[in-house]
Amino acid sequence: MSHRIVGKKELGTDVFWARIEAPLIAQARQPGQFIILSINNDYSERIPLTIAGADPSAGTIELIWQRVGKTTAEMANLAEGDEIANISGPLGTPTHIENFGTVVCVGGGIGAAPLLPIATALKNAGNRLVSILGFRSKDRLILERDFAAISDELVVTTDDGSYGRKALVTEPLAEACGRDPRPGHAFIIGPTIMMKFCCDVTRQFDVPTQVSLNTIMIDGTGMCGGCRVEVDGKPKFVCVDGPEFDGHRVNFDLMIKRMNAYKPQERQAHEQYEQ
Ligand code: FES
Repeated sequence: MSHRIVGKKELGTDVFWARIEAPLIAQARQPGQFIILSINNDYSERIPLTIAGADPSAGTIELIWQRVGKTTAEMANLAEGDEIANISGPLGTPTHIENFGTVVCVGGGIGAAPLLPIATALKNAGNRLVSILGFRSKDRLILERDFAAISDELVVTTDDGSYGRKALVTEPLAEACGRDPRPGHAFIIGPTIMMKFCCDVTRQFDVPTQVSLNTIMIDGTGMCGGCRVEVDGKPKFVCVDGPEFDGHRVNFDLMIKRMNAYKPQERQAHEQYEQ
């Protein structure tokens, strides 16, 4: 069954949003879950993307992605009315939502997209929501208004100071964790290196921390081993055991090494596609 794109726009430099027909996924999906798509056929590259939103009555899901490689560039070139051949999902374990008191949600770059449904669910569960969003520069800013609408406090940072506070997200995160009473939980989604440093901060303050990992994936069913990470010294598969894990137990250094394993091939495929 193919899936028609019913809405598409560019949110910022290299960041895109699309609403896509996927009625069964729209009905079943819960915050924290993701899909794997292949654009053309069974031989296309399969990429995981977290579901940024869904409308069960319209039978649509929302995806937000960044143009970083061949398939995300191909997706960026699709238009309203075009179709995606395969979307599998919802995959992964939903986020555990409860009232923790105060929660800190940290989104780095495109990580703000999967964070939004989780932050919304946490707010609806009665939490006081402190949101921290970090971007490289103003032209990469996404979802500020959406987070402002649900957050009790919102801090936006940019690396170059072109918008909001010139800082890395770890700075306001440390401030939020240092308050009395301490936040009951932190949720962090973004580049792997950012999640690693954020976890170093929350560990110092003893704030339990959930991260959502976005590894290389192929089948999404626990069979291929492509998404393997080490958590608490044991192998785990992000697609079926995650994508969320206790950030204080993830071996981020090993994950970064594995994520970089196919970088030359990824670059080559992207360059060939753009030629
Ligand atoms: Fe193959 Fe997770 S993607 S085991």
